[in-house]
Amino acid sequence: MSDRQDLAGRHIVLGLTGGIACYKAAELTRELVKAGATVQVVMTEAAEHFIGAVTLQALSNRPVFTSQWDAREANNMAHINLTRDADAVLIAPASADFIAKLVHGRADELLSLACLARPITSCPLLLAPAMNREMWAHPATQRNVAQAIADGGHMLGPAAGDQACGETGAGRMLEAAELCDELIAFFQPKLLAGRRVLVTAGPTYEAIDPVRGITNLSSGKMGFAIARAAAEAGARVTLVAGPVSLRTPRGVTRIDVRSAVQMHDAVLPLAASSDIFVATAAVADWRPSSASAQKIKKLAGSSAPSFELTENPDILAAVAGLAKPPFCVGFAAESSDVARHAREKLKLKNVPLIVGNRGPATFGLDDNALLLVDAQGERELPGGGRRADKLALARQLVAEIARRIKS
Ligand code: C5P
Repeated sequence: MSDRQDLAGRHIVLGLTGGIACYKAAELTRELVKAGATVQVVMTEAAEHFIGAVTLQALSNRPVFTSQWDAREANNMAHINLTRDADAVLIAPASADFIAKLVHGRADELLSLACLARPITSCPLLLAPAMNREMWAHPATQRNVAQAIADGGHMLGPAAGDQACGETGAGRMLEAAELCDELIAFFQPKLLAGRRVLVTAGPTYEAIDPVRGITNLSSGKMGFAIARAAAEAGARVTLVAGPVSLRTPRGVTRIDVRSAVQMHDAVLPLAASSDIFVATAAVADWRPSSASAQKIKKLAGSSAPSFELTENPDILAAVAGLAKPPFCVGFAAESSDVARHAREKLKLKNVPLIVGNRGPATFGLDDNALLLVDAQGERELPGGGRRADKLALARQLVAEIARRIKS
């Protein structure tokens, strides 16, 4: 979680139905609140068997609704009032029984009543199914899920894995952090819907021998943020990552590589069918001409070893040189004169957009400042000499790219 407050100003009705995954709803409430949302919890009677309303009241800082006969609302119409100022209803966990009720328009308790009474065009319904794998796979559930989607509902998950019943399979509710990310993504404008985006990220590692190599300080955070922002914007994203230990953004296909040559070989076959290529990786310019098969030993009295270096393939230039290249975005990590070097790189690599940043002021950090350089001119992100969180910058960059490929 960051302090970006990605859900600031959003009001979420969080509905809990009966299932052991209710324990995750406490963490989910906390994640949503930390992301800036206001959360109104509504629980079915079955959910109350799994977790106490007091816990959710404390975490959401609001009284929890559990009954349609709750007299706290002046007009006694909690089922109407609950969704009128809500940006979304999220049912997590969504039991098989509750999904079945929804698709039949049943409304015999407060949560299903509120779902039926919600303004269907302005208050989307998101469902995070949680149930035993046999229940999930049952044709009745699959039929109901398909109908819930046809009625405008959005399914978040389920995941596959170990289940509380001891079985293994599909039906696990997504984790709280994953659901929070899904909700954040749901609200992002779909600027790249239907587009294919290819991103490189991180450093490369060029082996000297089996235990040593040449690498650099790139953390991969900017490239991973761009992959996430592009996926949030509705693109199909493939991320080719050098050696980094970062979590793969949800919905992104990741290919791990180590060396520049491996990165080149992973990227090139995908590039021709991509609409956009963002080369964020800090690719090593050279590699040892031949890596030693055995560890190079330090022997008493012998001098330090010396290496022949060979130039690595320039991945960005290779993609930009394709007969029908995708829209190519290069990065320039400089220690000085960012604008001048970025403009030089624009020509050198023959790409429509270069993003300049200061190497020492970005490697490993969660925030950054970008300078967009193209044939038209320059633009700072976020501007005014300020810095911003890398995901916030990535979303702005995605918007800039979307604007350019449209015009
Ligand atoms: O290393 P250089 O400053 O030339 O990097 C500029 C851009 O080129 C970056 O976007 C980087 O990802 C890309 N690049 C590449 N293959 C290389 C070197 C750089 O794709 N071998």
